[in-house]
Amino acid sequence: MTGPAVLAAPTVPRDAGPDERAARYGEVRAAIASLLDDEDDWVAAMASVVCELHHAFAYFDWTGFYRAVEPEVLIVGPYQGGHGCLRIPFGRGVCGAAAHTRETQVVPDVEAFSGHIACSSTTRSEIVVPVVTEGGALLAVLDIDSNDPSAFLEVDRQHLEAIAQDLGRRFPHLQS
Ligand code: SME
Repeated sequence: MTGPAVLAAPTVPRDAGPDERAARYGEVRAAIASLLDDEDDWVAAMASVVCELHHAFAYFDWTGFYRAVEPEVLIVGPYQGGHGCLRIPFGRGVCGAAAHTRETQVVPDVEAFSGHIACSSTTRSEIVVPVVTEGGALLAVLDIDSNDPSAFLEVDRQHLEAIAQDLGRRFPHLQS
């Protein structure tokens, strides 16, 4: 679609519990589904997902994609927040670990994660979710950094994985 689908809803506060988060994820996922209806442009999709997520949760201080466009290297894609690192090799940092293992990485304390890439000195915790097609191709990773320690709960993982899975289904052939 061409215009905004949903009016802005209140931002979920940093100390919100699972129920409040889950309710907002429901709205965000509905907004994303509406925005991406009939949209086949991968960059437009990533940008829209980032925008919806970043403005919905106060504890999302950096929200963006790293794209798997070159062998063994991630390159930054659409994001919101301060500037991000441009390229991350597979296997380096939290994003690289997610790309390498194709499994979600939840890091409650980035200082305890060996090899964490500090793009921002304020980041305390992060979650990185791989975006994989049904055919098994890695398209990107969705990286969310928080200035709060242990910001991400199981409810965040569940909904962010569902969003990533939906993207992988919608863009089965893209590698950029
Ligand atoms: N912290 C990430 C790098 C990306 S930026 O923080 C935006 C990592 O270690 O993978």
